[in-house]
Amino acid sequence: MIYLDNAATTMQKPDCVVRAVTKALCSMGNAGRGAHDAALHASRTVFDTRMKLADFFNAENPKQIVFTANSTESLNIAIKGVLNPGDHVITTELEHNSVLRPLYEMEEKGIELTIIKSDRQGNIRYEDFEDSIRSNTKAIICTHGSNLTGNMIDIEKVGKITKKHSILLIVDASQTAGVFPIDVQRMHIDILCFTGHKSLLGPQGTGGMYVREGLHVRPLLCGGSGIKSYSKKHPEEMPTALEAGTLNGHGIAGLGAAIEYIREIGIENIREHESGLMWHFYDQVKEIPGVTVYGDFTGKDRCPIVSLNLMDYNSSEVSDALAIQYDIFTRPGAHCAPLMHKALGTQEQGAVRFSFSYYNTEEEIDQTILALKELASNNE
Ligand code: ALA
Repeated sequence: MIYLDNAATTMQKPDCVVRAVTKALCSMGNAGRGAHDAALHASRTVFDTRMKLADFFNAENPKQIVFTANSTESLNIAIKGVLNPGDHVITTELEHNSVLRPLYEMEEKGIELTIIKSDRQGNIRYEDFEDSIRSNTKAIICTHGSNLTGNMIDIEKVGKITKKHSILLIVDASQTAGVFPIDVQRMHIDILCFTGHKSLLGPQGTGGMYVREGLHVRPLLCGGSGIKSYSKKHPEEMPTALEAGTLNGHGIAGLGAAIEYIREIGIENIREHESGLMWHFYDQVKEIPGVTVYGDFTGKDRCPIVSLNLMDYNSSEVSDALAIQYDIFTRPGAHCAPLMHKALGTQEQGAVRFSFSYYNTEEEIDQTILALKELASNNE
C-alpha cells in the first residue's frame, strides 16, 4: 500500500508516538484532578507537551497553549471567542470550511465579512488585505497553506499588515505545523490554530491553539476544570479558561512524543524530504498528456501537496482506480474548500490530491507516477 493522503491525516506515526500512547493508556490518571501518582503523571505529561508546543511555536509562556481536539475546534473557539456583532473580518478564498463555516455563522450574528479573491493558480494579492481594512476591522483570519493546492500565504507579511493596523491575526496552520517553522512572536500571530494528527505526527483527537498573552477569548465551553470547584463560573486563567472537561491525556502524551521526534529529525530535514518527493512527482506528472495540475509551482515554499485531474474524469473515479488497481491511497472530490474549487474551476470534477509525508519514499513516488501514466494511456 502506498499512502499519499497525508494532508488528511498522517497514517504512519513514529514508533515513539505509539509507545507513548500505549504507556499512557496503561498508566494515566486524570490531569489536574487529584494528587495520587496516576493523576500527577497525567498532569506532568500534559504540562510537558504544553511546554514542548510553546517552545516549538515560540509562545511567550506555556499557559498560552490550549489543548483542543483538532483545528476545527480551535478555529471555532477563536472565531466565536473574539468576534462581536458589528466587527469586520477579512479572510481568503483559500480557506477550509473550518474557517468559512464559523465565519458564515458569525455573519448571521452580525459580523461583516470580506473574502479576498484567489486567481486561477490559487494565489491572493497581499495588497487586497490592506485595501480591505475598514475602521471596524477586527481581524484577518487566514490559512498558512491551502489543503487543496498546497500554495502558502506568507504569514510574516500578513503579520506586518495586522500589526501596522492594530488588528488581530488568526492563523489556520493545519497543513503547515510540523513542516514549516512557525514563530508566533516574530510573525505577529495573535491566535494560531493547529491539529496534532497531520504533519505534527500525533494521534487524531489532538490539537490546540496558541493565544497571545493578554488577549481575551470567550470560551465556547464551561464545566469541570479541577480547580475553583465552588465557583459558579469557569476559571478565567489560561489555559484552563479554554479547556473544560477531561483532556485527551493519552493523545497528548503521543503528541508530546511526536514533537520530540520532529525536533530530533529536524523540521528542515522533514521539509526537504517531503518537498523533494513533491517536486519529483510534480515534474513527472505535469508532462503526462491529459493531466492538469492545480496550484502555483513557481515559488519555493509550498506544502507537500499536488492536486490534479486526469482528462475530464471525475476525480473519484481516478482515485478509486489508483486504490483498487494499484493500492495507492489519495483523496478525491471536494476538499472542504468550496471557494478554492470555485476559483480553480474544479467544482464539478473535484481534484485528486496526492500529499506526502516523511515516511514516503522515492520508489513509492515512482510507482505512483507509473500508475498515473498507465491510467492516462489506457484512457486515451
Ligand atoms: N482537512 C483535511 C483534508 O484536507 C481532512 O483532507
